[in-house]
Amino acid sequence: MAEATPPEAAAPAAPAAEAEEQVVNPWEVKTGSNQGIDYDKLIRQFGSSKVSPELLERFERLTGKPPHRFLRRGVFFSHRDLSSILDAYEKKEPFYLYTGRGPSSQSMHLGHLIPFIFTKYLQDAFNVPLVVQLTDDEKFLWKNLTAEECHDLAYKNAKDIIACGFDVDKTFIFSDFDYMGSCPDFYRNVVKVQKCVTLNQARAIFGFADTDCIGKVSFPAIQAVPAFSTSFPDIFGREKNVKKVKCLIPCAIDQDPYFRMTRDVAHRLGHCKPALIHSTFFPALQGSQTKMSASDGNSSIFLTDTAKQIQKKVNKEAFSGGRVSVEEHRKYGGDTTVDVAYKYLTFFLDDDAKLQQIKEDYEAGRMLTGELKKELIGVLQAMVAEHQERRATVTDELLKQFMTPRPLCRAA
Ligand code: TYM
Repeated sequence: MAEATPPEAAAPAAPAAEAEEQVVNPWEVKTGSNQGIDYDKLIRQFGSSKVSPELLERFERLTGKPPHRFLRRGVFFSHRDLSSILDAYEKKEPFYLYTGRGPSSQSMHLGHLIPFIFTKYLQDAFNVPLVVQLTDDEKFLWKNLTAEECHDLAYKNAKDIIACGFDVDKTFIFSDFDYMGSCPDFYRNVVKVQKCVTLNQARAIFGFADTDCIGKVSFPAIQAVPAFSTSFPDIFGREKNVKKVKCLIPCAIDQDPYFRMTRDVAHRLGHCKPALIHSTFFPALQGSQTKMSASDGNSSIFLTDTAKQIQKKVNKEAFSGGRVSVEEHRKYGGDTTVDVAYKYLTFFLDDDAKLQQIKEDYEAGRMLTGELKKELIGVLQAMVAEHQERRATVTDELLKQFMTPRPLCRAA
């Protein structure tokens, strides 16, 4: 008899020593190492799979698209069942993309851009519908904000998301506060998931405490159901075979606990398990021990920052892998494994040859920290200014179009 597979949500707990060293969950990311999270360890701990060169090669062959720098450089490093999505693409079977944002701040930061930039690339590569969940309800439950403030932030953040270049004919963005009340199919799925997960399981996955309000305990079901096509009858219809439409979720790996739970209940509800592709974290300015986070303004560069603010933050805050004096730096070179300015360039400087040159020059001591930071400041200022220009063109009318439940164009 075949051995039963253990549920993913409860699966491979890390050995105690490993678990103590680094913490990665939807609310906290930290490690004692200044080189950042050990992602191989995380793959073992979470039980996901590494994005392999063979998988990338297949992706490129099928889509005809050169791999995004986030794939070339291992930013999107881990996955669950990505090959099932490539199979669907190859067989011309329908699937869609799902990602999200918890609107807790007026502006998103550079870290939040990572999944959205990549999702836009995937939408272009696969030519499929995308749903974007804005969890204003989640942020109301977790943060010291009113429900009205969170709802308002959802709309503000939606403009930043639209400015990433999504195709209005293929994208539906929704606030939970709006959509839960207007779509019975969505709410029905939420309750079905809630019935499948016990309090014990929720505690084991999310670490809820006795003092947590019951809203928090029931929330994960709301983040789960956009992974089920039947939650979007306006997009996919209500026919029986809708359940066969697969889902791929791009996100940073902090969101994985939600989707381990989702994958565990999917079959019981007659749905396919959603596939995932996970990114590493864009580090805080102060170093890779933690991720850039909206709740720590000093750690972040926001999409609303001016050119001057970007320059000031990078020069003042970005942790340097340079040596204590110019003489030492020239002699021994800088350490790119801990240098935040260099790490940021690996995310945003597209030119592989230039990045390699910078690495060599910095490590050999030919390039100083100030020069490296200057390179980064130029790249970020241009990128943020372009984003701000695009955001200024997002009218309320366009926002309404994106946020109206409606049929979306689907690949033939
Ligand atoms: P939120 O708002 O915390 O983050 C939004 C997205 O950005 C990713 N992210 C980061 N990626 C790289 N580096 C960082 N420093 C960084 N900080 C955040 C997150 O992983 C996420 O992909 N509960 C979710 C909202 C949500 C969601 C989803 C996210 C609802 N449904 C489906 C992903 C997929 C949240 O609060 O995300």
